[in-house]
Amino acid sequence: MIWFVLACTGTEESKPDSSPVYYGDVDAIVQEHCARCHTTGGQAMSFDNPEDVKNLAPTILAYLEAGTMPPPAPDPECRDYHGSDRLILDDTERSRVKAWVNAGAELGDPEKASVPVPLPTLYPWDLELRAPTPYTPTFADGENDYRCFRMPLNNPETMYLTGFEALVDNPAIVHHVVIYDATGARASDDPTGFSCNGFGENGWQFVAGWAPGGEPGSLPEGLGIPLEPNTELVLQMHYYNSFDGADREVDQSGYGLMVAEAVEQEVMVFSLGTYDFVVPAGNPNFESAIIFPWKRRYGIGHILGVFPHMHLLGTAFDLNVTHPDTTQTCLSRMKKWDFHNQVTSFFDEEALVQDGDSVFLRCEWDNSSGNPNQSSDPPVDVSWGEGTTEEMCFGFTYLWLE
Ligand code: HEC
Repeated sequence: MIWFVLACTGTEESKPDSSPVYYGDVDAIVQEHCARCHTTGGQAMSFDNPEDVKNLAPTILAYLEAGTMPPPAPDPECRDYHGSDRLILDDTERSRVKAWVNAGAELGDPEKASVPVPLPTLYPWDLELRAPTPYTPTFADGENDYRCFRMPLNNPETMYLTGFEALVDNPAIVHHVVIYDATGARASDDPTGFSCNGFGENGWQFVAGWAPGGEPGSLPEGLGIPLEPNTELVLQMHYYNSFDGADREVDQSGYGLMVAEAVEQEVMVFSLGTYDFVVPAGNPNFESAIIFPWKRRYGIGHILGVFPHMHLLGTAFDLNVTHPDTTQTCLSRMKKWDFHNQVTSFFDEEALVQDGDSVFLRCEWDNSSGNPNQSSDPPVDVSWGEGTTEEMCFGFTYLWLE
């Protein structure tokens, strides 16, 4: 009997299912979850050659288990959103990679390779905005170049933004792309752009933000963000210096926009945030929270999505609606924060906020010398500010009011 059981187990083990190989078992996971950054011309070492993935297998497993790769993304169990499947490695996928590494990381039969699934796109866009000239970054601080380009729309009438897709020209150096509505703020019209703050300047209104893995955003039918006549957008590029020669690369990124002449409801982007905090030097676990009571005169808010935003020292982010009976509707939760992977989540289902509710926002930071993103030695008190070495705690929230 014992022999019989062992024999059975033995047969099971030799099935392809229990001993995964790269082609057909693991390659699809790598394509879906890693290749947007780990590819030739991408921002991290290429996984295009399966031999390289095989050689790195133990390191890959270590990174997966530490939760550092793929980079942290909003938790879909808080509220599911478009593209979460691509950003989050689920337990089945995790165990498959683990089983593959532990079974010796065999490549298997190239004929069984999975076919890559193309990324979603809104193409053809109604408007394509690009930086006016190709640009080569200069990393004055050694790491970052925030470059802004003014983009006048010259629209004679109000129009409505219904969708947006970052058009990333050179993924090796582009870490973020953000668009702001800077109408009336008189941004410089230098065609080669101008140097600007980490996340916007006074008087600029956040419109859309992208980081690798971010999906094109599209608002539900009949909804749109108003763009007044003669709207001036600003395109903000965050270039990051992560390899030798990054300061010789060229980029001309932009945004593809979908617009409508009229909509049923106007969507706004609320900058929910707190300015009132000081993260004490040396504190490895400091939190700041703010509660916004929802006033009856606002009506019913339909929340469509959120772009969480902190800077380098951020470690966790939480945004929810708290109801009068103390139950909560989770909007966005990141148990881990990664400055380099800030994505907007557009919810599968909108969330409601109404009279009696409060919106609750909480950010956590690690301002100790043990934080690998620490830029001060020794650490100093850090307060709100637009520079990357200052901090922020924002949930840019897309909503419409009923
Ligand atoms: C959003 C972009 C992004 C995604 C997605 C991503 N990575 Fe990475 N990865 C990076 C960057 C950037 C680095 C280099 C980080 C550094 O050097 O600190 C890196 C480094 C690594 C390393 C260390 C490589 C070395 O040089 O030792 C491993 C291993 C890794 N990633 C595995 C993965 C795996 C596995 C996935 C998919 C499940 C993945 N990554 C998804 C951006 C990404």
